[in-house]
Amino acid sequence: MTSFGSVNPDTDDAPWWRRAVVYQVYIRSFADGDGDGTGDLAGLRNRLPYLRSLGVDALWLNPWYPSPLRDGGYDVSDYFDIDRRYGDLPEAEAFLREAHDLGIRVIIDLVPNHTSSEHAWFRSAVASGPGSPERDRYHFRAGSGDGSLPPTDWPSVFGGPAWTRLNDDPADGEWYLHLFDPSQPDLNWGLPEVRSEFEEILRFWLDRGVDGFRVDVAHGLVKHPEWCNLENRPHHVGAAVVPDHPFWDRDELHEIYRSWRTILDQYGDRMMVAEASVHASRRPLYVRPDEFHQSFDFDLLESGWAAKEFATIIDRSVAGAAAVGSNPTWVLSNHDVVRHATRYGLPSGTNLATWSLVGPHALLDEARGHRRARAAALVALALPGSVYVYQGDELGLAEVWDLPTDVLDDPVWTRSGHTEKGRDGCRVPIPWSATGPSFGFGSGEPWLPQPVDFGDYSVESQEQDPDSTLDLYRRAIRLRADHLRADEELALIDLDLGADVLAFDRGSGVRCVANMGSAPVALPAGEVLLASDDVGEQLPGDTAVWLIPQR
Ligand code: BGC
Repeated sequence: MTSFGSVNPDTDDAPWWRRAVVYQVYIRSFADGDGDGTGDLAGLRNRLPYLRSLGVDALWLNPWYPSPLRDGGYDVSDYFDIDRRYGDLPEAEAFLREAHDLGIRVIIDLVPNHTSSEHAWFRSAVASGPGSPERDRYHFRAGSGDGSLPPTDWPSVFGGPAWTRLNDDPADGEWYLHLFDPSQPDLNWGLPEVRSEFEEILRFWLDRGVDGFRVDVAHGLVKHPEWCNLENRPHHVGAAVVPDHPFWDRDELHEIYRSWRTILDQYGDRMMVAEASVHASRRPLYVRPDEFHQSFDFDLLESGWAAKEFATIIDRSVAGAAAVGSNPTWVLSNHDVVRHATRYGLPSGTNLATWSLVGPHALLDEARGHRRARAAALVALALPGSVYVYQGDELGLAEVWDLPTDVLDDPVWTRSGHTEKGRDGCRVPIPWSATGPSFGFGSGEPWLPQPVDFGDYSVESQEQDPDSTLDLYRRAIRLRADHLRADEELALIDLDLGADVLAFDRGSGVRCVANMGSAPVALPAGEVLLASDDVGEQLPGDTAVWLIPQR
């Protein structure tokens, strides 16, 4: 083990994405520059200095393309433009230049599994009729039985069947596939034209200076050639390996990503990160040297607050990425899940999909959730690899689980037959100021209502408070950049402090210790660099520290 502050010279000149702190901007909810209640590029450009002061290396922007917003922009109607509610192409280019001038890279979202049903291709597919080349760009099929039943038993991720029938006309009663909402028809990746279209989309944005792509549903593009039924196979492939699953994680996917990698390699240090919700043992396949640069690892995000579970995940993820020359990634929250400040305040085993609707809401211990979220941030930011921070995590924002149902926008609410509220609770517009209309988000009525106490979490309220979560993130990101970023070594250690303590050493000499139980333990000897809450002789429960151990 080298002494504190040194870096591993072999990894010192590693590409930027290997150890970046990437801040996820859900553009619709980040900052509204024109007062229409929806976030936009003008708002984001105004807030670039804030992101710079936070110290992040890169931004990942959720989809910014023209879209009917049936699924928050994951229903793209034109891949070569910017939605007018957000801005336009010249403004996107200005934003890219400004971000780059501040030393911040930009990753954009690419949505290749499906288009919007309002995309020109789908409109012409509907107009052109069965057997046409236009229909061949999607998956149109005759129904089963007398044609009135879906072609297969596949369910949509959002609930209900994954097939919708165009109409009951016997001459054209075809069904089309949508693994998500009916407004998101799946593309036919067996067709060379679809492949060449996406290669052009990649080049279009690379030419405009984006630094990378976050590839949506990267495990879903290719479907079973024989359209077999799911039968009793699991719908998802995250918890187990499911050989020959009809629509997830098929081996034929990798050839597509190899061709994309060839394109990215022509542009220098650009990257792509896969959103591939697959079993941990399958993830390394996506990050082989000629495929994705990295893949999201959702295992921490899905884990309960338990030291043993965290240690197992960390060990497996570091080893899995290293085996193929990639780097691990760490994600605690994103725009699809209940924010971790709330998750960690709920008993493990709570059904997070339904809890916000059915409760019991008294189960939530908000204060505990906040403490744990702060400790979790120190764990994630102490790990090697890249860390994805979802907007508002740095403010300690919790899930707005009590949104009234009449404001819900997520298709999950209707597709689940009103049994799940969906993902809007983590997408509520960011509070920038302590008071005022929409707490500084913008001058108009925000597209989702903010809770009355949101101002207490605002950037303004936390800016000057040394005990704030914002300050903790700033200090952690700065320390990480100075002492941890260029270091890829990690060793899990047992400090003999009990089963609730997670501890690991980094090659640079920094030790991270997290007490994930509720009873205090002795604080290991050493110089404390940063703590998620007050520590004295003891390390209280739900608290993490970074320290230089006494040798
Ligand atoms: C995105 C979701 C989206 C879905 C369909 C996901 O992986 O993160 O927000 O609803 O893909 O595009």
